[in-house]
Amino acid sequence: MREHTEDTLTEAVIARLGKVSDPRFKQLVSSLVRHLHAFAREVQLTEEEWFEGIKFLTAVGQKCDDKRQEFILLSDILGLSMMVVALNHKTAPGATEATVLGPFFAHGAPELEYGADLTKNATVPGEPAWVSGRVLSTEGKPIAGATIDVWQARGNGIYDIQDPQAEFELRGRVRTDAEGRYAFKTYKPAFYGVPTDGPVGRLLDAMGRHPMRPAHMHAIVAAPGYEKVITHVFVEGDPYLDSDAVFAVKDSLVGSYRKVDSPAEAKQLGMPNPFLRLDWDFRLAPAGPARARKTIAASDAVT
Ligand code: BEZ
Ligand code: FE
Repeated sequence: MREHTEDTLTEAVIARLGKVSDPRFKQLVSSLVRHLHAFAREVQLTEEEWFEGIKFLTAVGQKCDDKRQEFILLSDILGLSMMVVALNHKTAPGATEATVLGPFFAHGAPELEYGADLTKNATVPGEPAWVSGRVLSTEGKPIAGATIDVWQARGNGIYDIQDPQAEFELRGRVRTDAEGRYAFKTYKPAFYGVPTDGPVGRLLDAMGRHPMRPAHMHAIVAAPGYEKVITHVFVEGDPYLDSDAVFAVKDSLVGSYRKVDSPAEAKQLGMPNPFLRLDWDFRLAPAGPARARKTIAASDAVT
């Protein structure tokens, strides 16, 4: 057929995928076309509106470079990143829940010994906090030699890797000891805003939304034989827990930084007195076979 109407166009585009041999690729593109066309029909998209959309997506691409990923930020604030996390990380009972990675993870962070000081190179002051706990299996067995990559924003809301003057700050890789224990010194995380100096910031503004993320520490916890988890620990009492700009909060991931006023304990840990203390265990599920993909729906078959 040569001519198409708004009623026949969708299936005509999908039919042109007839030669595609990868069934998953065919499913993804067919569904994308179907949903995009349905969106245009549902809102009766005008040419001016679609051109605005094209200009916006162009600006998102132009804002990206080797340090800035505006498309990930767009996915994050639209809840798509957390949707993909939810679909792909069905948490095993008792395991630490997964959240978004975010754009500020850095490879090559220093490997640190038990009790290391992540504030060593700090250029922005903060409230000293001792963070310690264990990495356990879902059955409660301590996991020795697990790695925990941690990173968090500095008190000014800016990550070290966003600041050309900064070395590794509030970031490092720690390892659990024979009893599955880890510990390090850091600062209590502060809430901060996602970058708003680009098109995603303008979109947030147009939607009447704030860009704030509740205070959190990021962690990637991994050990041989267990599922790796990319997660956060949020700070109890934070004003943005109910309105995280990227929808990543889980009740199970909110921790309490409690105040310790004990000169003896401070001395033993090498902390100033008073100080804050977060006791936090991570729990990993045993590694399993990769999640089976949903079978391709019959409606996606191209005739
Ligand atoms: C973060 O927590 O580092 C983050 C996550 C998503 C978007 C922006 C920042
Ligand atoms: Fe963050």
